[in-house]
Amino acid sequence: MSRGNFITLEGMDGAGKSTHLAWIPAFLQARGVTVTLTREPGGTALGENLRALMLDRSQRLHADTEALLMFAARREHLDKVIEPALRRGEWVVCDRFSDATFAYQSGGSGLAWERIATLETWVQGDLQPDLTLYFDVPSAVGKSRTQSVRAPDRFEQEDHAFFDRVRLGYLRRAREHPTRIAVIDGTMALENVKQEIQNKLLNI
Ligand code: TMP
Repeated sequence: MSRGNFITLEGMDGAGKSTHLAWIPAFLQARGVTVTLTREPGGTALGENLRALMLDRSQRLHADTEALLMFAARREHLDKVIEPALRRGEWVVCDRFSDATFAYQSGGSGLAWERIATLETWVQGDLQPDLTLYFDVPSAVGKSRTQSVRAPDRFEQEDHAFFDRVRLGYLRRAREHPTRIAVIDGTMALENVKQEIQNKLLNI
């Protein structure tokens, strides 16, 4: 049996990830693909507990702590969910993965990029997603979209400067991984974004 594909979705809060995650699994299933849908932080019992801790507005963890916890949970996620599904030939669609740690904990919170690269190599070895859809929007657009729908979580309450740095972090990752990461202009009309994603998924 051939190994499945590993797809990740990235972007700052309010960039449009959730809107497109709502149709991508059904789109793939209609083409005969079995899909495992998962997310980070999350995806395992450990990951979901970590999610609650990370998004809790009442506390702020050191960026080192956040990165270490994120990669510890990622190891578990790879071992228990992602790798087994890929081996079964399924496609794994994951809402955020390591690019988010580079963007948020390094770009946003200022942790050295190389430290995260060290953790990435430790936890992932050579494994990278086959395709990453990165939804790119200016921070003001992301912020106004999230503010209109819900109370902000720990990250969403950060200021514009934080999200400007998160965006730069994502764009740096996209420059470093130009074949894997597709930069999608999240300010385009929904139908155009959808079309672009479908093209990427069909040409993987
Ligand atoms: P979500 O609300 O898009 O699911 O993401 C949860 C938050 O967690 C989001 O604000 C980004 C943050 N996050 C990090 O800071 N580092 C990471 O490695 C991951 C995966 C998410």
